[in-house]
Amino acid sequence: MVASSSISLVTFCPIYFRPEYLNLPLVRPFFHGNASHMMELGKGVNYAVAFATALNSTFLEARGVHNPITTNISLGVQLEWFRQSICANVSDCSHLIRHSLFLMGEIGGNDYNHALLTGKSIDEIGAYVPFVIETIISAINELVELGAKTVLVPGNLPIGCSAAYLTLYHTFNKTEYDNLTGCLIQFNKFSKYHNELLVKKLDQFRELHPDVNIIYADYYNAAMQFFRSPGKYGFENGALKACCGGGGSFNYNSSILCADPSSTVCAQPDTYANWDGLHLTEAAYKVISKSLLQGPYTVPQFNSLCPTSMLKEWDGLSSYM
Ligand SMILES: *[C@@H]1O[C@H](CO)[C@@H](O)[C@H](O)[C@H]1NC(C)=O
Ligand SMILES: *[C@@H]1O[C@H](CO)[C@@H](O)[C@H](O)[C@H]1NC(C)=O
Ligand SMILES: *[C@@H]1O[C@H](CO)[C@@H](O)[C@H](O)[C@H]1NC(C)=O
Ligand SMILES: *[C@@H]1O[C@H](CO)[C@@H](O)[C@H](O)[C@H]1NC(C)=O
Ligand SMILES: *[C@@H]1O[C@H](CO)[C@@H](O)[C@H](O)[C@H]1NC(C)=O
Ligand SMILES: *[C@@H]1O[C@H](CO)[C@@H](O)[C@H](O)[C@H]1NC(C)=O
Repeated sequence: MVASSSISLVTFCPIYFRPEYLNLPLVRPFFHGNASHMMELGKGVNYAVAFATALNSTFLEARGVHNPITTNISLGVQLEWFRQSICANVSDCSHLIRHSLFLMGEIGGNDYNHALLTGKSIDEIGAYVPFVIETIISAINELVELGAKTVLVPGNLPIGCSAAYLTLYHTFNKTEYDNLTGCLIQFNKFSKYHNELLVKKLDQFRELHPDVNIIYADYYNAAMQFFRSPGKYGFENGALKACCGGGGSFNYNSSILCADPSSTVCAQPDTYANWDGLHLTEAAYKVISKSLLQGPYTVPQFNSLCPTSMLKEWDGLSSYM
């Protein structure tokens, strides 16, 4: 999730009615084909790009922050792809937009990753947060102007628990670690700061748009469940060490990343929460997605969003699926 920042959309509510909703086909990348056709088939479209940022490259480059691979791809670029691909004439496909669930992110994590992992101080990066949040809110606003009615907006994950940060910011000062989880306190505080500001701005947005469902997805606390009690979720090898990487205490080495010929992969990924240093394993994402769809980790709760009065309207749409 951290590195595949994105907007994506899937046809809403029919998902929820289907008992197999946790086994939806993977949302297709939009480069794969005809996005509006994909939507009409109920398959969804994903505009995620590895390393993408919320802030544009003009903003980041001016501060000496470089996207190492997908230069110039920011949320605004993805939004433009969405505009152009989903329907040349928005009024022709307003039914698709109106009845879709938009996932706005997780986005913003890479803005911080690119800066922090190249050694900028956390105080300096703190100043980017209001700009990141403003960029996300204005993207949501643009979708709502196009007719979006349901937007799920994830917060940031606890970055202080990621193998990459634990390795690069390793310290012998024990008071910098949360003694329950082993995570770096100041980086988790940073994630919480981003999330608090996001929640505040979403509340303001809801007041202006009472007819739109804005759902906040609390990735941070959903993930903290297994950082606090890894064993309870089957992460017998702990939640911090990466399954795939180049060795070291957390199996993370920035010069031997996962997929490098000298990296190694663990035998049982399901017993790890961290996949490659920055991303989580499928098993960990499953805990998070279940917590969001069934549990208390979205505001408002997911299962409160499709009142029976709307069933008729959604019913027609389920034929697309
Ligand atoms: C994409 O799909 C839409 C809806 O199914 C169709 O009207 C349109 O012609 C397709 N566009 C292309 C380029 O195939
Ligand atoms: C880049 O983002 C900044 C901050 O949000 C904004 O002020 C500026 O207009 C944007 N520039 C371009 C070229 O999009
Ligand atoms: C868009 O669709 C609407 C309604 O179908 C139509 O009236 C309008 O002329 C179309 N606009 C363009 C630019 O094709
Ligand atoms: C250890 O970290 C704490 C919390 O960040 C800080 O207050 C303290 O000064 C540090 N101690 C040393 C010896 O650096
Ligand atoms: C863990 O940290 C908290 C506060 O950071 C402290 O109050 C507590 O005594 C510590 N527990 C242990 C076992 O070190
Ligand atoms: C990372 O790998 C390089 C290349 O093998 C090695 O020189 C370096 O010591 C490793 N770094 C750590 C922190 O283990």
